[in-house]
Amino acid sequence: MPAADEPPSRHVVVLAGGLTHERDVSLRSGSRLAESLRRDGHDVTVRDADSDLVPWLASQRPDAAVIALHGGRGENGAVQGVLEMMGIPFPGTASHDCRFAWDKPTAKSLMRRAGFPTPDWFTLSHSTFRDLGASSLIELLVSSIGLPLTLKPHQGGSALGTNVVRAAGELPASLVSSFGYGEVVLVERFVTGREIAVTVIDDGSGPRALPAVEVSFPGDVFDYDARYTAGMTTYHTPARLDEAGRAAAAELAVAAHRILGLRDVSRTDAIVDESGTVQFLEVNVSPGLTETSLLPMAVEAAGESLGGLYSRLIEQAISRGKR
Ligand SMILES: Nc1ncnc2c1ncn2[C@@H]1O[C@H](COP(=O)(O)OP(=O)(O)OP(=O)(O)O)[C@@H](O)[C@H]1O
Ligand SMILES: [Mg+2]
Repeated sequence: MPAADEPPSRHVVVLAGGLTHERDVSLRSGSRLAESLRRDGHDVTVRDADSDLVPWLASQRPDAAVIALHGGRGENGAVQGVLEMMGIPFPGTASHDCRFAWDKPTAKSLMRRAGFPTPDWFTLSHSTFRDLGASSLIELLVSSIGLPLTLKPHQGGSALGTNVVRAAGELPASLVSSFGYGEVVLVERFVTGREIAVTVIDDGSGPRALPAVEVSFPGDVFDYDARYTAGMTTYHTPARLDEAGRAAAAELAVAAHRILGLRDVSRTDAIVDESGTVQFLEVNVSPGLTETSLLPMAVEAAGESLGGLYSRLIEQAISRGKR
């Protein structure tokens, strides 16, 4: 029998897979989370988000679901909305609020409006290049944002479709590559410095930041290979920042969590530039949970287990459902 203060054993569905470029990452996140929750005594089923999901969930009636889907409907609020319609509690951001974090330019606008630093950017659709002429727009981008610059799909993850452009002549090919991942591209000033990820948890007493995790990787961008190839990246937890830098990183991540209306858990990605300013890049509502993912490293550094954290967030979601 569990002790009085131990969370009860629950029937939990972990949603993982999905038809996005990040399917493999999601499957790995899902199986790691499932293992951790099983170690904490829960009855866990890992389930893909496919066309049988809704009737299957209706027949299972789990106590709760956890979304370990990355990209697309796992982060844009669609699956969250399905769970809300079905009355299945889940930890994480409510469906309507996911849109702010999911769309990188929207998140950047809201953070800048609130006074937080984020690299200068413009957002352009594929059809704008077609209708207004690619060569003059390319010239404008180079003169206004400057080089180097970063191109990335406005919605997406795992740095897929992210390109760094160092010379104007590289821009056309890089645009084609980024537009391969979506109709809209975020063109952003490239920032050099230390890249960090700050996990924020709200388990009942307000959002608080866990220790920042710093990533040090070969090349310009923390790309797919650097993230998921063992030994390619060095992780520093906590990040190698002085006290003021750590405080600024925590403040930025907690502010992003609040300003973008996020719930329970989020992970903000940022770069501490050469002047020590913490620049907001983006925030994730369904952070990676794989062996090399940054949220589990932060949780461990805070002296907690992944299963223990998600067990508490599941209980919180169940109580929210009752209210
Ligand atoms: N403005 C920038 N300056 C320098 N590097 C950048 C910039 N924007 C993005 N990067 C690099 O590209 C990577 C991916 O960018 P970003 O975190 O915005 O998108 P993502 O693909 O959604 O990532 P995630 O999978 O973490 O959600 C970053 O981890 C960073 O290494
Ligand atoms: Mg990121």
